[in-house]
This record gives sequence, structure tokens and C-alpha cells, in this order.
Amino acid sequence: MTHITSILQEIRSFPPPTAFQSQAHIKSVEEYEALWEHAKAHPDLFWAEQAASVLTWDRPWQETLLNKGMESQWFVGGQLNASVNCLDRHLDTQGDKVALIAEGEPGEVRELTYRQLHREVCKVANALQSLGIQKGDVVSIYMPMVPELVIAVLACARLGVMHSVVFAGFSAEALRNRNEDAKAKLLITADGLYRRGAIVPLKETVDQSLRGVSSVKNVLVYRRTGAPIAMEPGRDLWWHDLVPSQSEVCVPVSVESEHPLFLLYTSGSTGKPKGIVHTTAGYLLGTALTHRYIFDLKPTDRYWCTADVGWITGHSYVIYGPLCNGTTVVLYEGAPNFPDWGRFWKIIEKHGVTQFYTAPTAIRSLMQQGDAWPAQYDLSSLRLLGTVGEPINPKAWLWFHEKIGKTRCPIVDTWWQTETGAIMIAPLPGAISTKPGCATRPFFGIVPDIVDRQGHSLGDNEGGLLVIRQPWPSMLRTIHGDHERFLDQYCKVIPGEVYFTGDGARRDSDGDYWILGRVDDVLNVAGHRLSTMEIESALVSHPSVAEAAVVGKPDEVRGEAICCFVTLKGDAIPGEELLKELKIHVVDQIGALARPEEIRFVQALPKTRSGKIMRRLLRDLAAGRQITGDVSTLEDLATLDTIRAASAEDDM
Ligand code: PRX
Repeated sequence: MTHITSILQEIRSFPPPTAFQSQAHIKSVEEYEALWEHAKAHPDLFWAEQAASVLTWDRPWQETLLNKGMESQWFVGGQLNASVNCLDRHLDTQGDKVALIAEGEPGEVRELTYRQLHREVCKVANALQSLGIQKGDVVSIYMPMVPELVIAVLACARLGVMHSVVFAGFSAEALRNRNEDAKAKLLITADGLYRRGAIVPLKETVDQSLRGVSSVKNVLVYRRTGAPIAMEPGRDLWWHDLVPSQSEVCVPVSVESEHPLFLLYTSGSTGKPKGIVHTTAGYLLGTALTHRYIFDLKPTDRYWCTADVGWITGHSYVIYGPLCNGTTVVLYEGAPNFPDWGRFWKIIEKHGVTQFYTAPTAIRSLMQQGDAWPAQYDLSSLRLLGTVGEPINPKAWLWFHEKIGKTRCPIVDTWWQTETGAIMIAPLPGAISTKPGCATRPFFGIVPDIVDRQGHSLGDNEGGLLVIRQPWPSMLRTIHGDHERFLDQYCKVIPGEVYFTGDGARRDSDGDYWILGRVDDVLNVAGHRLSTMEIESALVSHPSVAEAAVVGKPDEVRGEAICCFVTLKGDAIPGEELLKELKIHVVDQIGALARPEEIRFVQALPKTRSGKIMRRLLRDLAAGRQITGDVSTLEDLATLDTIRAASAEDDM
């Protein structure tokens, strides 16, 4: 595929509100363009200036950028510590400023100042050291959205220990795979978490996941719910037994700029999740700088990003970026609809939230509940809104703009990825006019382009593949344990030395970028990345399944929903029973986020003569569309008719 047809034609444009613009860090498009051009022409100089002013260093670097194409090293020779940048350096100037306002789902609120957070991080870091954890080790974290999660993450950073946070919605199997791949020595978890008024028994899942995993020597358990759990003697330790007695002093481990800060698993176009590796200095710089400018941060702000720390958005824009900037961060544990659909708006009112950063899927579900919910709350503290994770449809954008932002708040539609570490394309809110559904302009130092498969640049309004032409500090450095895969998937797909994003996009005649979605086998379900092959391998691991093909189909709230075409083994009986069983099986293998919306039993899958499944046809079928494309490569045309017939039966 070379060109992508863009069907969305949105022509509305919203200039920055005057009152916002006059107080913004960057106040005009001219100012933005001048800085962007400077950074493009002199990337070394630009990033060196920023690194010197944004970060606190133990030792200055000698070489700003060493690179071989897209394989890059930044600030070589420099040393620093990420937890010092997020905590220690604020203590003299604003130690008593609130760092975290944490609201649990049951409603209790805890506030931690920078000084208190620092103290807790030091104690936990000392606790980890007492368990023999040291620089270079990996600690896995599987926790609810409570302050102890942030504390655990920063305690790892303090010791130069890589954290691997696994979203607490993933299944035991998914947690096991990640811990095995990462060779995690310690797992930090909780007895459970609150979700929609119920307790999710996290520790039970952890116990299941650890059967047969030899690397994990200890499990540190934070008591969140108080529900009874099993503790394995010799392996499991309570947080409240180990942490409180630790010293409040912990000398931070000074690490090299390129020392890996963390691992975060994400789905790729093959079945095996990849451990994306981010390093210390470049990542911190990218998250702090983008957070400051794109959210137009001010010292008095009370900033809330609803993402779970189990995803990259939580790493970059709940923890590292905001804390590096000394921000007051709101953290919420639970569901948006508990006890009712007013919860988010209530949190905004209660804590005086100034920036609200969330996902289009959440906006669409909140919109569906009607305007009466937000209308009950005072949202006047808000001054900026943000979205991330998937394209936002204009209808949801306009609702967000009118009903939540009251037309007064700019919306920053931020495009980026686990791999990019920080936001790459987004409007600077005081400078760039926004357009519903458009991520607009690249951040300073980011040079995107739209190309065809051969790497040739395409013109305005020609849909194509989104690439990044220059390395940037917060980009991934490798895939854990598989550097070849890193090179193959990101650096070698498109000829020329460019980073391939896996997304399609177009640039309009104003120079604004519109993201068109994934061009590979990655689904975006409710803003979560899932690989079709990961779900397929979960399905075929069931004894009744012979073959499976998974595609996305349009879904009004979640963006995409999972639709599976399955052929069965000889003796298996298709029917409601098996359907239910297969859905549960996928949830067990991956987690509730991968629950198939639909499973269709078919006689055979449509394949090319070379045996490749023709997903394009399945996507059309799943969406209930006419098959329009070329079917001449289909091995057996009759297959299509039988699937069509089966689909028609399902529709009845
Ligand atoms: O397809 C793009 C989509 O989400 C993908 C990255 O997913 P993940 O690594 O899980 O990170 C999500 C949070 C950064 C991208 O390749 N995506 C992300 N943000 C946007 C988006 N698509 C359109 N508009 C966005 N603002």
C-alpha cells in the first residue's frame, strides 16, 4: 500500500482563545515556527540547550548526539538520576508543595507533598536494596493507581533499577510472559484494587502468574483493600512490614545518560509483546519539555491525566514529565462511572483541576451519558484539555470543546507512541489553531514526513506512511533482548534512515498532520494497542480451534472492536457454549481488554495462494461492508461465499 485515501474532511479551525494565548508560554505561530526551524537545523544545539536548562546533572555530558541512522545515543558521558530530577531538586524550593492528590475509588483522598513523596521513595528504595535489588536488575510492578505505585516506580529509578510496570488489567498469563521476558527479580503488587465498587484480587492473579517463573525471588505486597489473601512464606513480604522501618535517607545511584530507565511491554505486529526500552536522560528531557509546553504548565496548576501508569501515557504524563516539572498531579484509582457518570466531573470540581488529559474512548462514553452529568459540576477551574491514544472523531471533539471546555479551553490532540516516549505531534495551545480530529504540528526537534513504501515524500493531502526523519532524545533505544527486531520493525521498513511509526497520516496545506490510524496488524481498542496475532495465538491455543484470524471493526465508543473468524478442529461443536468459552479463554490469556466483541465460526479462512490470510476481506465482512477490493489473489473464491453466508446467518 502506498497511498491512503483520507475520507475525513474537517474544515473547522479554532484559533487559540485570546485569554489563553496572552498568558501562554508560546504565544504565536511565528514564535513556534522560528523555534521549530532552529531545532530542525541545529538539533545538537537545541537539545543541548534544553538538556542543560531542564534537567539536573551529576556530571555534564561530552557528546550531545552519537548516531548511526536511527540508532542514537544522547548526552553521552553525562550522569544523573531520574528520581533526583523528579523529587530531590524540588525540595529546597517547593518541598511543601503538593506533588500528588490521590483519590481512591471509595472516595478517600490522600495528599503527599514533594518532601513526603521523597521520603517514601527513599524508604522503598532502601527496602528494595535490603532484598538485594541493585542497578541493572528488573523489578516488575503490578499495582492499582495509588501513590504507592508512583513511589515504587521512583524507588526503582533511584537505584538505577529498571521497572517494568504491567497494567493491572492484564491476565496472569500476560503477566507471566512479561516477567519471564524481563527476568524480573522482584514483583511489587497489592492485595487488590477497587473497580466499580468491587475488589479486584490482584494478588491471586500474581500467584497464578508466578507458577513456574524462576527469576522472581520475592513479592512485595501493599495492603490496599484488606481483603484476605494468601502469602507464600519466604517469597512474599508485606509492604507494611518491610518499608516503615527503613531509613528516610537513600543516596541516589548516579547513572549514565543512556542507562535504561524502564521496560514497557507493548503489542507489535507479531504475537509476542515487545519490551520497549527507554533510557534515562533523553526520556526525562522529552517528557518534561513536552509536558511544560504542550500543557502550558504554570506553577499553580493542578493537572490530571486519567491514564493508568500501566501504559506509556501514565509513565510519561502522570509520573516523569509532571514530577520533573514540579507539578501537582491528580491521581484517581477507579472507574469513570463509579458511583455514577459524574465522577470525573466531580473530581475536576473537587480538586480544581486545571488541565484534563484523557482518551477519546472515555470522552465518547461520557458524551453518551448526556450533558446533564457535566452540567451538575463547576468545571471553571479547567483551562486546557488534552486527548491521546487514538484519533478523536469531530463529534466527540466538539462535545469536549463545548460541554467540558465551555469553548474557553484549547484542546491538545497529542499523537505519540510507547516507542516515542513523549508527545511528537500536538498543537502548542497558545500558538496553533486546532481542528477537530487533527494532531496539527510537530514538537520542537521532531521532523515528521509522509512517505510511500519506497520512502519518497508525498505532497500535501496525500495520505501515506508517517515517518520521523531525525532521531530525538526520548525515542526507544531497543526492544529488550531483541535488537534485530527493533531494527527490522522501526528502522528498516522504509528505505532511507527514518523511523517508521506504523501509522498512516496526511499533511494538509496548512502543514497540519492528521493521523489516519495503524497500517499494520495492530488494533486500537479503546485506545489500547493489541496485536491481531496476539489474539489469534490466544485463540489457537484453545484445543477446539484450528485457525483464527482477527480484525478490527468500527465501534462507536471504543474506536475499534475485536472480531474473530475461527475454524474449528474436526470434533469441535460450534455454538453458544464454545463461543462463550473462547471469549473467556482470550481474557484468560491476555486480559479483559482483549475480550472479543464477536467470534464467527467459519469453514475456512480466505487466503492468498501463498497462504496469507486476506484480512482486508475479513475487515470488510466484519464491518458489514461490500467487498470492493481485488479478490484475484484469493486461493479459493468459494471460501468467501461460505464466510459471507455464515455472516449473513449471524446477522439474522
Ligand atoms: O496509532 C497511533 C495511536 O496509538 C498508537 C500508539 O499506541 P501506544 O503505544 O499504546 O501509545 C498510546 C499513547 C501514546 C499510535 O501509533 N495514537 C496515539 N495517539 C493518537 C493516536 N492516533 C491518533 N491520534 C492521536 N492523538
